[in-house]
Amino acid sequence: MSLLFFCGYKEGDFNYEERTKIHSFASKINQAIMRDLFERITENKGPLGKWASQAEGYFVFPKLEGPISNRMKFQGKEVITWSINDYLGLANLPEIKKVDGEAALEYGAAFPMGARMMSGHTEDHEELERQLAEFVHKESAYLLNFGYQGILSAIDALVSKDDIIVYDVDSHACIIDGVRLHMGKRFTFKHNDIESLEKNLTRATKLAEQTGGGILVITEGVFGMRGEQGKLKEIVALKKKFKFRLLVDDAHGFGTLGKTGAGAGEEQGVQDEIDVYFATFAKSMAGIGAFLAADKEIIDYLKYNLRSQMFAKSLPMIYVKGALKRLDMLRTMPELKAKLWENVNALQNGLKESGFDIGNTSSCVTPVYLSGSVPEAMALVRDLRENHGIFCSIVVYPVIPKGMILLRMIPTASHTLEDIKVTLNAFSAIRERLENGTYKRLSAAVIAAMGE
Ligand SMILES: Cc1ncc(COP(=O)(O)O)c(C=O)c1O
Repeated sequence: MSLLFFCGYKEGDFNYEERTKIHSFASKINQAIMRDLFERITENKGPLGKWASQAEGYFVFPKLEGPISNRMKFQGKEVITWSINDYLGLANLPEIKKVDGEAALEYGAAFPMGARMMSGHTEDHEELERQLAEFVHKESAYLLNFGYQGILSAIDALVSKDDIIVYDVDSHACIIDGVRLHMGKRFTFKHNDIESLEKNLTRATKLAEQTGGGILVITEGVFGMRGEQGKLKEIVALKKKFKFRLLVDDAHGFGTLGKTGAGAGEEQGVQDEIDVYFATFAKSMAGIGAFLAADKEIIDYLKYNLRSQMFAKSLPMIYVKGALKRLDMLRTMPELKAKLWENVNALQNGLKESGFDIGNTSSCVTPVYLSGSVPEAMALVRDLRENHGIFCSIVVYPVIPKGMILLRMIPTASHTLEDIKVTLNAFSAIRERLENGTYKRLSAAVIAAMGE
């Protein structure tokens, strides 16, 4: 009736037929004002999607072919692959593929059906959890189908509206999305900045005193873009001054850091102080799945409150059996981690000796920072792939500041010292071409061609 009111009439001024006509007219006006949901999507493809026509198939969604290894094929040509998180080189080992294959034959891809709580629970799931807990020196563990959804859901389950989350501003998207579910207050602290964390803990403490809630601090064991370890030691030291619990996403640290491979917490001597530990199988375990580890009481709570697992089908047996095998190799073959670090050190030292800026990495993740525009970066990456046979990820604005190019490399145990030598020579060549303006000229030609 808003149209009638708007025009100064009352409902009773019209008979039934007239009112029906007015309603129908009003609904047509409303529909003309409304937008179709997909209009925005057609107009705005998003910060990355807008580059699709120039980038897809080459810079994004590239197809790497052949067995997962140090050398794969890109567009028919062999390339040294520096963009695959198969840290320990497990993905293509015959003994791994044998276990995966046998599990597929025995169970198919479906078993077990249903959520763990209802019908998808097995002795093997529990066994894997026992072994994972032991490996990361925690009382108990719980399996997740995917890291992303799992940690998101864990954040949701760990806090109530009265609690406050304080998290590193450079956190992975899965943490940011988990925080988005939180109904209470949240604060970010500057990346790896303990002074900023302290300031935000002070604010959070004041608030928590009013709400009667608690504080959850979230950070990463290793920040996957730049390779810096989260300052876990400094963060846990703040527990003397503030009351909070700590959740650490150790996706890149698990299997690669620490004496036994238990991750960044073990590396920094503070694994016991991490209240909830998270890692994925998608990196050093070369699989799919993830887990949370904590005191038994906390894991028992999560089992009954973690919505991403309660309302989703159980992790299939192929991945459970596969993870048991991979974990066994992490435990019994320290030479894999030793080889990984031999390569990491050779690559990072070689880059530093050649004068490259690799930032503050303290993990296997190896960033190389260069200066240049996005079109120059595209020309550079093309040169690296086409003329030097090097495939690495490229990160540009808006992920990093304008005018910077980040080439992100992931050394693995399957790389060879020869791969590293070839790569270091290639990097020196591309730096020279970047500095002498070759890529600027090449990219100007591409930009001009695109404008035509
Ligand atoms: C830091 C970090 N956390 C979480 C995830 C998500 O894990 P998953 O691939 O198992 O969903 C990733 C990416 O794999 C990651 O890099």
